[in-house]
Amino acid sequence: MERRRRVFVRQNQRTKSRCALAVRRSLSIVSKAITGGPSSRFSGDGLPGELIDGKKIADEVRADLKPRLATLAERGIVPGLAAIIVGDDPGSKLYVKMKGKASEEMGLAHWTVELPEDVSERRLLDEIARLNADSQVHGILVQQPLPPKIRVEAAVSAVDPRKDVDCFHPTNVGLVLIGRPRFAPATPAGVLELLLRSGNDPGGKDVVIVGRSNIVGKPLAALLMQKANGANATVTVAHSGTRDLPSHTRRADILIAAMGSPRFVRADMVRNGVVVIDVGINRIPDATAKGGYRTVGDVDFEAVRLKAKAISPVPGGVGPMTIAMLLTNTVRAAELSAES
Ligand SMILES: NC(=O)c1ccc[n+]([C@@H]2O[C@H](COP(=O)([O-])OP(=O)(O)OC[C@H]3O[C@@H](n4cnc5c(N)ncnc54)[C@H](OP(=O)(O)O)[C@@H]3O)[C@@H](O)[C@H]2O)c1
Repeated sequence: MERRRRVFVRQNQRTKSRCALAVRRSLSIVSKAITGGPSSRFSGDGLPGELIDGKKIADEVRADLKPRLATLAERGIVPGLAAIIVGDDPGSKLYVKMKGKASEEMGLAHWTVELPEDVSERRLLDEIARLNADSQVHGILVQQPLPPKIRVEAAVSAVDPRKDVDCFHPTNVGLVLIGRPRFAPATPAGVLELLLRSGNDPGGKDVVIVGRSNIVGKPLAALLMQKANGANATVTVAHSGTRDLPSHTRRADILIAAMGSPRFVRADMVRNGVVVIDVGINRIPDATAKGGYRTVGDVDFEAVRLKAKAISPVPGGVGPMTIAMLLTNTVRAAELSAES
């Protein structure tokens, strides 16, 4: 029998004092330099490139949300984010927990709905419909991966596009492509913010993205190629069918690795002065680390940093930005709902 487990439903009403603390922390952080400063810039002498610090930039993004949250609060609106997780994948559980914690810290309401691995697609779609109809819920995310018997397309298409804060609904994907985004997809938008806020505007640059997934590579290419300030890049999207990948990566002014292959991008695959954003999150065995593994990106960080002008680390690069952009989308969803 299908068993529904509504394990955790927590609406965060916690408190102005916590929020105020978070704001103070954010503000104190953003007043400092986001990157390593001119002394660490690459000049061909083998000094390490600037670190593009995702934690600091994410704090800056969150601080920017505070006045918007205050305006919504004046109207009695608390943005609410609901996450649905199917099954017991530890990675997915951790991500959903982190998203809930981040919502809480910002004073957003949040709920997590846990469904068992053997849940039917129908049951999942019913749960999405329930959240679609709940006016307290402004944003809905269905954590991926989903079990094989559930169609990802069916799940993402079932979310009300006005609540689709992951920006996976076909309508929202299309709006991004034609340059009229309702929401910007969280990870790609986070990459763009990292570039812009670290002083690496992609305008006019040759950007090479390695990876063409629907979650990262494709929507990131769509954002970067727009005829708009903060975009306007010449974009190449490489993938496993690309012939002579290094010949593409070596001519990148900005290289974005989103492959899911640990330390794949080596120093001989990049040119001097490149800006590198590493989206990859890979666990590799490490007997010296707590838990017996550690997390690395798709880029051989230490070696590539010696040739780079600037580079984002893993962890502490794109990861915190993804969450900050998800919160941004939830606030936007609440604003759009208030306007309608
Ligand atoms: N930091 C974050 O918040 C965040 C968010 C999302 C994802 N990620 C991480 O980003 C990575 C990519 O995620 P994803 O969902 O986009 O993965 P995905 O769906 O597996 O896509 C990987 C892409 O990389 C390409 N690729 C893999 N190996 C390659 C190779 N040797 N040469 C050229 N292209 C290659 C694949 O090509 P084909 O299309 O030809 O197969 C595919 O397009 C993962 O490590 C994931 O954990 C991080």
